[in-house]
Amino acid sequence: MSLTDLTDLTNVFVDPTAYADEERFHDACRVLRREHPVARVVSDRFRPFWAITRHADVLEVERDNEHFLNAPRPLLVPAEIEERVAANGDGQMLRTLIHMDDPDHKAFRGVTSSWFLPGRIRSLEDRIREHAIRYIDHMADLGGSCDFVQEVAVGFPLHVILSILGLREEDFPRILQLTKEAFGGDDDELSRSRDPQEQMAVMLDFFQYFVALTADRRANPTDDLSSVIANATIGGEPLNDFDTASYYVIIATAGHDTTSSSIAGGLEALLRHPDQLARLRDDPSLGAHAVEEMIRWVTPVKEFMRTTTEDRTIADVTIPAGDSVYLAYLSANRDETVFDDPFRFDVGRHDNKQVAFGYGVHFCLGAHLARLELRVFFEELLKRVDDLELAGEPSRSATVFVGGLKHLPVSYRMR
Ligand code: HEM
Repeated sequence: MSLTDLTDLTNVFVDPTAYADEERFHDACRVLRREHPVARVVSDRFRPFWAITRHADVLEVERDNEHFLNAPRPLLVPAEIEERVAANGDGQMLRTLIHMDDPDHKAFRGVTSSWFLPGRIRSLEDRIREHAIRYIDHMADLGGSCDFVQEVAVGFPLHVILSILGLREEDFPRILQLTKEAFGGDDDELSRSRDPQEQMAVMLDFFQYFVALTADRRANPTDDLSSVIANATIGGEPLNDFDTASYYVIIATAGHDTTSSSIAGGLEALLRHPDQLARLRDDPSLGAHAVEEMIRWVTPVKEFMRTTTEDRTIADVTIPAGDSVYLAYLSANRDETVFDDPFRFDVGRHDNKQVAFGYGVHFCLGAHLARLELRVFFEELLKRVDDLELAGEPSRSATVFVGGLKHLPVSYRMR
């Protein structure tokens, strides 16, 4: 393969519009998995990196958290923004779990990890179901059609995560707007501006809000997750404002857009595969398998990155010390050596080894919560709604990080 051909293929990782054109993305990844599973990517907008496209190699990198670190480059950010941030002081806009390595990572994750254990999350089921029912009632109020993303999929997980954090409901719209702007960085319809200075202003808005929240929960602790974070100590010391604010930001953002993209993309997959929709309706016990398949199918988090501490060889390619690798989750989740017929959407898929939640010490903190939200939501939806159909062409967000559908027109009949 010529260098030009290879550049054409690897361009899908650095061109935000490629993520909105899944056929193009998957066509390129299919060839890369087969011929260049570890491919160097050079572009105008981002510093160079190596794209890891096979499932086994993604796991190998994630397992080796001693030689592949999250710091200093946990995700793909335009070089221009990286430079501005570096010029601004200590080099980071946020310091969250995804920016840390051990021992800090272990200590910070320990602050909330027991909150997210399966038993604790199960105890939230009734609350989550109430939120789901509220959104399905809203679908009923809208008559027989709506933009499912804007009316339902965005709001439901946001309500869940912000109520777990214990925020006031009147603040939800503001947090929603900030989340969209922070994550929709490459999509003109979603982001506040393409100007990096403006994008940093989004983060400052988040900070101001959350610094006030910490002060309040220290003065008046409650039993919500914000109080756990505000009153935590590490090595006997409370977390500083930057660390607490970063913690809320990671929970609020990671817990929202990911899940809403999975719900919307999951519904789209069901509508495009009516046999699978009928199968799930007829056999609700498939719920947990269906959820896992929806998350594999959508893979809303497109990438995370790691940086090598020394030369490391993956799939016979030596990655020099200090270089970064891009974990192509969406590609790994279509790896034909792992998934039987990976481009088939199968709500009964067993032994689903999807890696949409990552792997290893950074494995998604909210995975059990996200699974529960999807399972409960689809249980309630399929109980109440008939004749669900696509009512127009869906559109996807252009982003190199987290995203999926931004519009999904649907029609339906309430029971
Ligand atoms: C379908 C929904 C979701 C997907 C696909 C997803 C995906 C991911 C991925 C890929 C990672 C990085 C894992 C790695 O580096 O190996 C991650 C980390 C994380 N996720 Fe999720 N996530 C989802 C929902 C949630 C929810 C609901 C929360 C709520 C709290 C959450 C909180 C986090 C946090 C805090 C981290 C950082 C963990 C660490 O670095 O230790 N996520 N998630």
